[in-house]
Amino acid sequence: MPFRPRYTGLIERYRDRLPIDDDVRIISLGEGNTPLIRLNNIPGELTRSVDIYVKYEGLNPTGSFKDRGMTMAVTKAVEEGSRAVICASTGNTSASAAAYAARAGITAFVLIPEGKIAMGKLAQAMMHGSIVLQIRGNFDVGMRLVKEVAGEAPVTIVNSINPFRLQGQKTAAFEIIEELGSAPDFHCLPVGNAGNITAHWIGYCEYSSAGGDHVTEACLFCNSSCSYAGGALAGSRPTMVGYQASGSAPFLRGAMVDDPETVATAIRIGHPQSWEQAWKVKEESGGWFDECTDEEILAAQKLLSEKEGIFCEPASAISVAGMLRDVEAGKIPEGSTIVCTLTGHGLKDPDTAIAQCPEAVLTVDAELGAIKDAILQKMSL
Ligand code: F0G
Repeated sequence: MPFRPRYTGLIERYRDRLPIDDDVRIISLGEGNTPLIRLNNIPGELTRSVDIYVKYEGLNPTGSFKDRGMTMAVTKAVEEGSRAVICASTGNTSASAAAYAARAGITAFVLIPEGKIAMGKLAQAMMHGSIVLQIRGNFDVGMRLVKEVAGEAPVTIVNSINPFRLQGQKTAAFEIIEELGSAPDFHCLPVGNAGNITAHWIGYCEYSSAGGDHVTEACLFCNSSCSYAGGALAGSRPTMVGYQASGSAPFLRGAMVDDPETVATAIRIGHPQSWEQAWKVKEESGGWFDECTDEEILAAQKLLSEKEGIFCEPASAISVAGMLRDVEAGKIPEGSTIVCTLTGHGLKDPDTAIAQCPEAVLTVDAELGAIKDAILQKMSL
């Protein structure tokens, strides 16, 4: 007898709140159930007292939150008889699609912007045997092409416009509520296509609702009657806050951005696919969008790594960069409980990490004296 039941992924875990039939073959890699880590050291550096947790989605099987949506999207694609999936991606979706397609025994086609995806993500797509189409264009161009080609070829789109993706991703909110015993006061996320902020809001709404009425207008999954809401497990919903990189901030500009640019390549997106839904999330939750510069993003990534031992990729760190600024500015009030989603693992983008630490490595002779001198010199600092 095992000491505890084996965790077999979020579809099994939340079957009753997901659009999944009993006899379906589930394509899973054990995604979900990620740690909600309370920050110990960074809050002490703030002038206001708040309780900060990070939901470390980088610990999903392929190193990002995309796996939550991908287990649903690929399970459904296989159920419907699809032999191939396709996506445009800034890197993480392609890594996840490639892995879940491999698991299912089907083909993944991934369109990525040439030279603009982090090396770890490219390595994943290649190793999992997907067909990588590197395009001379950015994510938004790739997304347009994927939509066009899916109309002409027998492939299932697994970008977040696939409604099953957000259904899977909403489970992150369920886990947070179960672990905290209630919803946080604020939930801060990076925003690219705005699928993830929408998915979280759907999850929070479903868990805080008493019945199957239309729990949020941000959800396009079922038409006004929600089958998955009920129980009113949480008494409240958080205020949702979305951060964008300054060079790729259509929600701040109030219009699409044609040439997005940022060091956080995961969110180098100018034409968000969940545009309307994300505005609903802001409105219904009383939240806001804000932007961070590349410098702020990288500083937050380093801070989390150095002060808390948590290594996330640049795009993820924007949730902490923006949150810290909003706490100090009083927009997030003293006494709040805050959750920041760290969407992807730091190992995804080793180049950006190494470039930030030019003096982190000492080269010394391979002999005792040199090592001892180096240690004593460092310890006296
Ligand atoms: N953080 C990371 C690490 C991401 O990879 C993404 C999106 C986001 C945040 C933004 O999430 O689009 O739901 O608002 N990455 C997509 C991709 C676009 O292709 O991997 P969103």
